[in-house]
Amino acid sequence: MTHTTTTFAIPQIIIDDTTDEAPVPPPPGPPPLLTFDQIRHLATHGWLPLTLPDPLASNFQELFAHVTDFFAEPLAAKQARYPPSRGTEFGFYHVPEEKEFLTFRHRRVHTDSVLEDCIAETWRQIVRLLYRVLADLSTAAGYDPHSCWDHMLDGVWDLAAPGRGTPPSPPRDHPHDPSSSPSNPASDPDEDIPSLFRLFQYYPGSGFATAHVDIGLVTLCVGNGSGLQVQNRETHAWHDATGPTLLLGETARCLLRNQVRAGQHRVERTPAGRQSAVFALRPCLAHPTRLEAFGGTAGHVVATQEYYRAIQGSKWSVNATRDIRERQQQDHARRKREWEARREGRAGGVPAGDELAGQGGIGCVDKR
Ligand SMILES: [Fe+2]
Repeated sequence: MTHTTTTFAIPQIIIDDTTDEAPVPPPPGPPPLLTFDQIRHLATHGWLPLTLPDPLASNFQELFAHVTDFFAEPLAAKQARYPPSRGTEFGFYHVPEEKEFLTFRHRRVHTDSVLEDCIAETWRQIVRLLYRVLADLSTAAGYDPHSCWDHMLDGVWDLAAPGRGTPPSPPRDHPHDPSSSPSNPASDPDEDIPSLFRLFQYYPGSGFATAHVDIGLVTLCVGNGSGLQVQNRETHAWHDATGPTLLLGETARCLLRNQVRAGQHRVERTPAGRQSAVFALRPCLAHPTRLEAFGGTAGHVVATQEYYRAIQGSKWSVNATRDIRERQQQDHARRKREWEARREGRAGGVPAGDELAGQGGIGCVDKR
């Protein structure tokens, strides 16, 4: 057998050293999503109607089909598959005569679930969308999106596999401040990522949620009927939010130092009831936050966990059962009285800037 050898000529590549020495810098953030008017509306009112891009829009259609199948199952089956835990923060909950809801944190529960397959893909797309929203806000305020948000989204980008894992990254020094120290060296990865995806089934004529603002960074609400209402912060009028809606949370308001408002919203009873899907993007608690990135004092670093817990502690859950809700409201009223007494005892009244942001309790002060 005769073998023939073919020789290929390699084209000569001429490298222009003068241009090669100037690498192209990475983009300053993700691609812009919102228009200037949308950013202004979101900052002013704390909420914004949003047309979902594909494939996220079609993902939600598929998700609601799975949600309908899930809520049609008997209560005992739903509770067995997703036992509730972490207060109302994980698993299946039933609030008699009001609603039922299923909450996912950043980790899958079952590997053989078509519902969770759809949740995982929708989760992935929502986080990327909401990151662009946060980046647009910080860019509009003159801040670097990476310095503001990257450490807060650590570990949240994708739904993790069932069981114990390692997201987020082990606590480390702040990537933008080598002198800072880990906020919580012994942190639990499951506790460090409080973001959640919640699916609601409101009963006909009975389900509701009182007026409130969310505690996290930004929330995406998508419903399949009327019921969600949002408040115009200038006229104080309530409007039906019939389509996908963004809601800014208290943590975003505090970090951005009142340059944005948190979105006041409520759920009204409707004769038909409704389903909704709510994704609440909350900060990863594993890494410290440098307030300078948000225009605060240089060198002021706060433990994100303490900062977030302080905001969380000033609110009560509108989704808890009635007795828990009433107890949380009483605790909140007591903390508010204590805060006001402490505030009256200070020379100069209301603390400002970093002092306010760093100490938490901020959600009690600004009731706009
Ligand atoms: Fe809410």
